[in-house]
Amino acid sequence: MSNTPQPAPVAEERIELKARNVSFEWEKTPLHWIPGDPFTGHTINVLHLLLPAGERWFVHVYKQVLPYITDDRLREDVIGFIGQEAMHSAAHDDVLPHLKKLGLDPTPYTAQVDWLFEKLLGDRTLPPGRARQWWLMERVATIAAIEHYTAFLGNWILNAETLDRRGADPMMLDLLRWHGAEEVEHRSVAFELFMHVDGGYRRRVRTWATAFTALAFLWQRGARFFMDNDPTPTVGKASLGAFYRAGKKGMLPSTPSMLKSIPRYLSRTYHPSQEGSTAQAVAYLASSPGANGGR
Ligand SMILES: [Fe+2]
Ligand SMILES: [Fe+2]
Repeated sequence: MSNTPQPAPVAEERIELKARNVSFEWEKTPLHWIPGDPFTGHTINVLHLLLPAGERWFVHVYKQVLPYITDDRLREDVIGFIGQEAMHSAAHDDVLPHLKKLGLDPTPYTAQVDWLFEKLLGDRTLPPGRARQWWLMERVATIAAIEHYTAFLGNWILNAETLDRRGADPMMLDLLRWHGAEEVEHRSVAFELFMHVDGGYRRRVRTWATAFTALAFLWQRGARFFMDNDPTPTVGKASLGAFYRAGKKGMLPSTPSMLKSIPRYLSRTYHPSQEGSTAQAVAYLASSPGANGGR
């Protein structure tokens, strides 16, 4: 490690991470919460399928890694991170019964996602020692890679003004932006934790490749699931072309911006603080209706 360039954090004021209590009411949110664009809405809805189990898994893994942290400030950050992710998981979970009420039962998909995180990525019956530690570090590195994308998406949604112009449901936008802002706010924690307990470059590349492939696979499958099971007969099909076109219009992250984010994570001088703006995130959180006691 001694000859390798070091991550280059951007100087920003360090803030204390805390979970915010939120409240969202879903009764008035329609199934097609972006008027006339079910594909974009459903592509974003995949978050509600993946995050409840995914973020519960983050919490589960991080509770196991706490004893390996020898830096007090980082431990505080990880504890704050755990609190925020637990809240995100629950808030997205709360949307699912509403989707079911509107005629789109997500259970067949969420059952598979639960299996993935609880069984495939769970603790396995490893004896104490190197194998168990290897598996823990592998998962810590995987979370750092996923958090590169949650920060990317958080930064995107905070700036996705096209969604406002197209009349997207304000409650859903607030959920996404509250979550996105906290992702930007805590974007350095997972990477700093990985660098603190392991930091191996080969492991970073390997787990990035797995996380990226799995996310792309699960996302296209989730969008297809929603489009195929939407009770409105005219919604059409999910496709890569539709994804690309929505990205070009600013309704989803653009394909070029997603491709450009790959070498950034794999750069040896990468540090998450180089992405997004803490000041913007904190400003949104101060004004978010959901994070300030509802409406
Ligand atoms: Fe989150
Ligand atoms: Fe996060």
